[in-house]
Amino acid sequence: MKPKILIMDVIHEKGIEILSSFAEIEDGSNISRAELLTFIDKFDALVIKSGNIIDKEILQAAKRLRVIGRAGTGLDNIDLKTAEEKKIEIICSPSGNVCSVAEYIVCMMIFLSHRLHEAHIGALKGDFRRANWRGRNLNNLNVGLIGLGRIGTAVVKKLTSLNNRILAYDPFCTNKDEFIDKGVTFYTNLYEMLKHSNIVSLQLPLTSSTYHLLDKKAFSKMPRGTIIINASRGALIDDDALNDAFERGIISFAALDSLDPDPPYNEPPTECFFKHRWIDHPKVYYTPHIAAGTEDALQEVAVELALKMKGFFYNGKNSF
Ligand code: MLT
Repeated sequence: MKPKILIMDVIHEKGIEILSSFAEIEDGSNISRAELLTFIDKFDALVIKSGNIIDKEILQAAKRLRVIGRAGTGLDNIDLKTAEEKKIEIICSPSGNVCSVAEYIVCMMIFLSHRLHEAHIGALKGDFRRANWRGRNLNNLNVGLIGLGRIGTAVVKKLTSLNNRILAYDPFCTNKDEFIDKGVTFYTNLYEMLKHSNIVSLQLPLTSSTYHLLDKKAFSKMPRGTIIINASRGALIDDDALNDAFERGIISFAALDSLDPDPPYNEPPTECFFKHRWIDHPKVYYTPHIAAGTEDALQEVAVELALKMKGFFYNGKNSF
């Protein structure tokens, strides 16, 4: 009998093709939580993205669930403890979107340091006084990277060709020497790194120890006019502390690709009443979690995940 897979968000059709080759698949991208709870016990596997919350209640109702496939990287939306207790395997696809996110981060570094967004908004309002939008060359700025995993590594690779000074903080980095050879300056104390950074970029998972990593104390260490880029999770930043940092001129601008909480990504605008203070804030360039969302990345992530799921059902375990 073929396994039954519920696909709870929109994933690339190339991934669907692979999943359909060995499983019965059902589209669950538009179902409510109440509906999900009534029929989740029919499925052997779920395919999810960051917008799907898989909590204890859902896992308890999922009587025959064997595996959760996460198309992407972050696992902060899954109750991992309950999943482990229930021996539900978690499979993710962390490689496919690295290039997309790294390009987004470097793009935002240049876009915001050149003040292109502010100049564009000014011009749309009929203000063409270009002397007001004097930006900075990225190569004269210190970039502080929090997190040097797959994405941080790809950002370093792109930045080295731009010749700017790269600072880094990552207590879990095991290959520091390779980065030091590329000219990266390591800090063992986050606050010390923040003191010396003109741009701070976050590329790390959300866990109980990284929740509100950028809080009031962290902002107080940064120089005036610092730019923040968050292509990870909204809750890495304490929003009240960021608001205060904007008011005090510590932060000049922020590129935020994720909010706390994130909006519902599959609702049409006519039915969506989501509000958040950063969406139309004049000092925020907000994008709805699309840093990892290029066509190329979505395809790679979906194919990587579908092949891993196929491996799981053929071999009875996660073989990757
Ligand atoms: C990820 O965790 O892979 C990215 O945040 C993209 C996403 O799943 O929406």
